[in-house]
Amino acid sequence: MFKMEPPRRNLAEVKKVIMSAHESTTLEEKLQFYDRWALEYEQDVEVLEYRAPYLAAECLASVFPADRDSQTILDVACGTGLVAVELYRHGFCIFHGVDGSERMLQHAEQKRLYQELKLNILGYEPLAAPTDRYDAVITVGALSIGQVPLSVMPELCRVTKPGGFLCLTTRTNHSNLQYKSELEKRLQDLEGTGLWERVTVLEVQKWEKATSMEEASPDSDFISGAVYLYRKKVASACVL
Ligand SMILES: C[S@@+](CC[C@H](N)C(=O)[O-])C[C@H]1O[C@@H](n2cnc3c(N)ncnc32)[C@H](O)[C@@H]1O
Repeated sequence: MFKMEPPRRNLAEVKKVIMSAHESTTLEEKLQFYDRWALEYEQDVEVLEYRAPYLAAECLASVFPADRDSQTILDVACGTGLVAVELYRHGFCIFHGVDGSERMLQHAEQKRLYQELKLNILGYEPLAAPTDRYDAVITVGALSIGQVPLSVMPELCRVTKPGGFLCLTTRTNHSNLQYKSELEKRLQDLEGTGLWERVTVLEVQKWEKATSMEEASPDSDFISGAVYLYRKKVASACVL
């Protein structure tokens, strides 16, 4: 069926839209911002050369050399479904998604890649998912200042299967550095429990185009970011 696309915005216009998100201060306002942005989100992030879904999918796929089509993936803050699109290219095909914006979820639904999609306010209410359920839990583009709070972390860990993977991204531009260091502290604490192990951390210079000169890296107009991949250990069997 022919789908009407809105006119494409240029980079300056996209930057303006993203800067306007900073005017939303409450959680409700942020989610309303995403509701309004849903229709143009994918066109706009293409203009920004947003590479996080591609990078995170590559990273997660690298630890599943085989049987990708039988792995169940939870896409947390799935938005319009760009992460499932990238993972599908690698052979994954079982996706569940959660997000706090109804309109973003409606666009994800149109991809026909997710078997389950649920409205879920992250960091404030439990994840709508059973304990030890998922072969991989992935959160892309949502763990940053003013978006999903780090209080979501215990829930991400809870729903990951023993032996399963947790794949997270964050931006490493100036305004997000405190959030990034708090995220890394949480990940260190996880390793400290002995129940999780770090698989890899990928620092990426070209994450997406900067929305302001102050945020850009010194030698480019991009901001940087990082992908974190952790594994929940299989608890050793209790021998009596
Ligand atoms: C930048 S988009 C990323 C979407 C997708 N993962 C991607 O990479 O294209 C951030 C998403 O996080 C969701 N979000 C932000 N804060 C949230 C919260 N506290 N609870 C639920 N969803 C939230 C928004 O609705 C939006 O869909």
